Amino acid sequence: KIYVLDCGGQYCHLIASRLRRHEALSVIVPRAAACDVPVAELNDAAAIVVSGGPQSCFDPDSMKVDPALWQLPVPILGICYGCQMMCRDLGGKVEEAQVGEYGAATLTVTDSSGLLKTAQNSTVWMSHRDKVTQLPPDFTTTATTSHCPHAAVACEVGGKRLYGFQFHPEVTHSQEGENMLGAFVDLCGLRGSWRMDDFVDEQLAKIRNKCEDGRSVFVLVSGGVDSTVTYALLAKALPPDRILGLYVDTGMMRKGESALVEESLQKAGLPNLRCVDASAQFLGALEGLTAPEAKRRAIGQQFLAVQRDKCKELGLDPEKWLLGQGTIYPDTIESGGAAKKADVIKTHHNRVPEIDALIERGLVVEPLADLYKDEVRAVGERLGLAPHLVWRQPFPGPGLGVRLLCHDGEDDDADMRAKAAQQATALVGATVSVPPLKSVGCQGDARTYRNFGVICGDYGRDWDVLGDAATKIVNESGSLNRVCVSLLHNKAGDAPSFSVSPGGPHTCTSDRFDVLREADAIATQKLTDAGLMRKIWQCPVAMAPLTLNGEKGEVIILRPVDSTEAMTASFYRVPFEICDDIASAIKEALPQISDVLFDVTNKPPGTIEWE
Ligand code: XMP
Repeated sequence: KIYVLDCGGQYCHLIASRLRRHEALSVIVPRAAACDVPVAELNDAAAIVVSGGPQSCFDPDSMKVDPALWQLPVPILGICYGCQMMCRDLGGKVEEAQVGEYGAATLTVTDSSGLLKTAQNSTVWMSHRDKVTQLPPDFTTTATTSHCPHAAVACEVGGKRLYGFQFHPEVTHSQEGENMLGAFVDLCGLRGSWRMDDFVDEQLAKIRNKCEDGRSVFVLVSGGVDSTVTYALLAKALPPDRILGLYVDTGMMRKGESALVEESLQKAGLPNLRCVDASAQFLGALEGLTAPEAKRRAIGQQFLAVQRDKCKELGLDPEKWLLGQGTIYPDTIESGGAAKKADVIKTHHNRVPEIDALIERGLVVEPLADLYKDEVRAVGERLGLAPHLVWRQPFPGPGLGVRLLCHDGEDDDADMRAKAAQQATALVGATVSVPPLKSVGCQGDARTYRNFGVICGDYGRDWDVLGDAATKIVNESGSLNRVCVSLLHNKAGDAPSFSVSPGGPHTCTSDRFDVLREADAIATQKLTDAGLMRKIWQCPVAMAPLTLNGEKGEVIILRPVDSTEAMTASFYRVPFEICDDIASAIKEALPQISDVLFDVTNKPPGTIEWE
């Protein structure tokens, strides 16, 4: 097996997942055991990967590996911080840099005999400050980038097989990263040491084990791929009378969705499924709330309350009925981790404190908790679920509840907005040619962590240019998390100077949900007609109260993205004529809507959902 030593990097878990995609058995040695785990405990390792980490080798208390690690007679790959430790421990030199290197870089391969066969001139993703400036004895440089003289290093002298990458091959932004990790797996001879079928068998055994003492499982299903696959796994592991599925209509589903989900889950032949309309209860719980975290928490609590009520109604003993959830790995990591701003903290609805308490008591079953979305789909296919269930676009558990943006009506951030708008306009004007950029207006407030810029006026219709502008603004403004372009105020003279400010107070009312639902239905229909719905990985449609040039109202935000597993995503370039068509159809059908915005922020630094 391959041991992945966790040095605290946010992508450590992703490394293990990527290795599994090459059918290699990979196991994370967790931070609790520290990456300095004695090598004696790794004696069954066929290979080792040392992950990246947030620290600098120069911190006195930085994580260190057991120095004997580098002498093990197995292939070892150090990534980012792991590469720096390898080089420093073996006699090379690592130096602190004043400026870090974050984002895309182009690789110049100088030796393609090892892991970099297909990597010449490919894009790799960098995220580091310190760098290797002098190689240890017997090492050679196998690739460079314009900022990094030793972007990839290797030592194959005397039977050693040590490799180091300063960049991150595990993220999809590194174009050839998958092939590099595949080459590592082949070099270790481990392809085929793990298969998805093993995962399914392991989980079936774990579920049966957990329910050995006669316990049963109550699953909240949403019709989404994660909960459906969870339910199908449980249905395979347990007799039909020991599992119960409940679809909850929260009143925050999309148009026609509840009927569709009920029908397709019934057709899938999953046993013991029930549906409940709890929309009044959910909307009641959201009354008066505006802060995203408060909303998420209220929604999470309602799911539990509905489950408890159903248990009571059916006379089920809550201690005997475990809660089954379709939680996947990205739900459990702090969602703010992928974003640059430290204040972006998001609690997924299946991770509210009340559920954490149940987890501590061993009352929760989450068979997919270690997987990413694409792996969940692979499990779904293995379980024989219909393609339309397996390939549905992701839809968050809290549904439109996290897409209906609210505001408490306080406007104490006018200064911040004015400054951010000026700065963003200058940044865009100075660095990217968006001719002639009229204005970037900003809405923002510290209470809801949504500080976004809206590019209005004749901004030029080139997605690449707009994307570059967004990256520049978010990375350098220090105050904006997102950038959108206005689809309706996009002509010369439209916005000689554009002001954007909150349009509050707005809370989660059923009228507002209806408007959002309708806008979502129009956008979805138009994208489906254009044949794009299957190409777009996920297309959230959100609504926000916004005052544009003094005109109070609401805006609709389109957020189509391309992704593999939601850890990274880029905005999807929908042809402009289709955007125009969607925007004018929404405006015509919904007089409350004053503009339709298109989100051009990638993840990182943004996130997919707006809340
Ligand atoms: P972010 O916004 O963190 O989203 O980039 C990553 C993926 O997770 C989904 N998401 C959720 N799913 N409950 C869920 O079941 C939630 O509370 C939640 N929040 C975000 C999101 O739709 C995307 O696919």
